[in-house]
Amino acid sequence: MKLADCHNVEDFRRLAKRRLPGPIFNYIDGAADDEVTYRRNTEAYEHCDLVPSVLASGVEQTDISVTVMGRKIDMPLFLSPTALQRLFHWQGERAVGRAAEAAGTWFGISSLATVGIEEIGQTISTPKMFQLYVHKDKGLNRSMIERCKAAKFDAIALTVDTIVGGNRERCLRSGFTSPPRLTLPGMASFAAHPAWAMNYFLRDKFELSNLKDHVAEGSNVAMSVGDYFSTMLDQGLDWKMAEAIRAEWGGEFCLKGVMSVEDARRAVDIGATAIMVSNHGGRQLDGSRAPFDQLAEIVDAVGDRIDVICDGGIRRGSHVLKALSVGAKACSGGRMYLYALAAACQPGVERTLANLRAEIVRGMKLMGKTSVSELGRGNLRWR
Ligand code: LAC
Repeated sequence: MKLADCHNVEDFRRLAKRRLPGPIFNYIDGAADDEVTYRRNTEAYEHCDLVPSVLASGVEQTDISVTVMGRKIDMPLFLSPTALQRLFHWQGERAVGRAAEAAGTWFGISSLATVGIEEIGQTISTPKMFQLYVHKDKGLNRSMIERCKAAKFDAIALTVDTIVGGNRERCLRSGFTSPPRLTLPGMASFAAHPAWAMNYFLRDKFELSNLKDHVAEGSNVAMSVGDYFSTMLDQGLDWKMAEAIRAEWGGEFCLKGVMSVEDARRAVDIGATAIMVSNHGGRQLDGSRAPFDQLAEIVDAVGDRIDVICDGGIRRGSHVLKALSVGAKACSGGRMYLYALAAACQPGVERTLANLRAEIVRGMKLMGKTSVSELGRGNLRWR
């Protein structure tokens, strides 16, 4: 199996599974507890059907651009910030940023990124968000916000669904940590993936570039992501603090991980300009509802005042069409491009985005729509 054989996200997932040591693949692929929410995030789209219109004029010019957080992007789908990308491919965030730029869409880096804010600011021109995890170390929080201002990031996405670490049992079984701990089973899985291991050990040293000057955990002290969230992040994070961060930043501000109408309203009240309706890819609260299932009530409550983004579970262009029909401004996702990064670096991410773009355009034409604004609930039926 090679890049040219990857026609959809699942193909990339299979290739990533072959290329990555087991603990690393399972870190991406896994979720919390029984992974019910993780599966539901995608299944939710199957409970709703598209109703096409035919013989519509103008579909040869179908336009799928949208404006999100004040920036026009060439497709209604973007790359959610995700952590630790250097582990999935040694070019990590650099490859992902360049692929997002080629596709003309938003991307983001995490506080737990393996490339620094400054380098991304200097080298990537596509709209970029910084995913802020609020740490106990207040100096660290301040420094990340200042660095984002200096590097001219376009938005901050404040993570609001990681007040403690989710119970990721695949990671408990594999012993996955950042940086990877060299246990015996871990070594065996590295030895079985020599190309990955050579790149990991011989290329630039692994580090969490935005954290390492403040905290050793994650860069020099191995720790699971669950333990990192539970011990390093500030459980005091509340609406007052979120509002203060919004004021300190002063730019486009997104809350990543809102799931209820009440919280969506409060996001508007504190001056957020966007929300990502998200359950962190099912990696935090298992049993939580799917973003797509919560979308309609959230759009009805705040969709005219704030950009509502549907994050998670996207595997097909048709999923994006359904979310836009309900009223999302755009969709976003993590695993959909991380599998491609692990499978084939920048060309992989470019190909998965091209596949999804082609599916969205084809779907729009088959739906008889010439622009995203023509999609609405009238072209959906629920089972
Ligand atoms: C995770 C974090 C780091 O879900 O986003 O693993």
